[in-house]
Amino acid sequence: MVNGDKPLFTPGPLTTSATVKEAMLRDLGSRDHEFIKLIKDIRNGLLCLAGVSQSEGWEAIPMQGSGTFAIESVISSITPPGAKWLVIINGAYGERILKIIERHGIAAEAIRCTENEHPDVAAIDSALAGGGFTNVATVHCETTSGIMNPIADIGAAARRAGCTYFVDSMSAFGGVEFDLAACQADFLVSSANKCVEGVPGFGFALCRRASLEAIEGFARTVSLDLLAQWQALENNGQFRFTPPTHTLLAFARALDELESEGGISARAQRYRANHERCLAGMRAMGFTEYVAPDLQGDIITSFLYPSADFNFDEFYDRLNGKGFVIYPGKVTKADCFRIGHIGHLFPEDTEALLRAIREVSIEMNLFPGGPA
Ligand SMILES: Cc1ncc(COP(=O)(O)O)c(C=O)c1O
Repeated sequence: MVNGDKPLFTPGPLTTSATVKEAMLRDLGSRDHEFIKLIKDIRNGLLCLAGVSQSEGWEAIPMQGSGTFAIESVISSITPPGAKWLVIINGAYGERILKIIERHGIAAEAIRCTENEHPDVAAIDSALAGGGFTNVATVHCETTSGIMNPIADIGAAARRAGCTYFVDSMSAFGGVEFDLAACQADFLVSSANKCVEGVPGFGFALCRRASLEAIEGFARTVSLDLLAQWQALENNGQFRFTPPTHTLLAFARALDELESEGGISARAQRYRANHERCLAGMRAMGFTEYVAPDLQGDIITSFLYPSADFNFDEFYDRLNGKGFVIYPGKVTKADCFRIGHIGHLFPEDTEALLRAIREVSIEMNLFPGGPA
């Protein structure tokens, strides 16, 4: 790794390429022509990555802050008075969407299922029938566990009910192949420091223009007003308030590198290779994953603690001492830790991590008499 930094097997911020980091070694004025062009190219690049375009009625709107700010921007900007959201939840990020909606005093109900299960689309259909809902939200890859949710099926249910549909694709966009238009999303959010492999500093919303134009007058905040941000970007090409100039420089470079790698399909293939290698190696040592293989994505994997007295902090510290960063668990119903597969990481990095995990497993005697 560059500068001896430890590889980050986390859901973000992620390990980035040296060239993405180098792209930040400039000071660009936020009102400068070069910077305005950079923003335009990034917005077009995002639409291109999503397989849509402005001429097909789509808009990409960057918003300062971490990914949650972009989520709050969408929720607080698109909800009409008297609206009611249905939030489909199987993890912490679905819960966060609900929390944001409720914090704004907006009516909402949730359909919850276990963190390693898919929601039941028939139950969503019946909740939507006659429930007075106007908006539906869900999470694409629920990073809590690593499960991939059926966003197209949920989108079809939202469309049948005439609801506006919002998808939090924070950890999936750019690293997972999917058809944005076909999944019926009106608004989809991700951020700079996930699968595009930029650095933290902004999130972005991909929006159907018709849905965007319908939100005039709904914004509940000044700084996170999505429509005002779009109008400013369209009018003079600029953010309304100080943009994260260095992050945007890095992001433009990251988009170029994603294209050179072969686009989303090639990136998804690399993440799949990281994931498959990791899973095979972890299973061979005796670890078990939390999500069933047919529901699991290639973004991040949750592994169950190998025993009730497993000391995660010691495991983490020992791995850290050997130069690797993993992630604690987040699921509520099982003790887990997580290994991320995204970022500027390759199967050989996963191999190196597995070697370190094997050493630590032996040092901690995690599988007495077992295969580790
Ligand atoms: C699915 C999902 N939603 C929301 C977030 C929150 O993003 P941030 O921490 O950038 O605010 C994350 C972060 O990992 C995420 O994975």
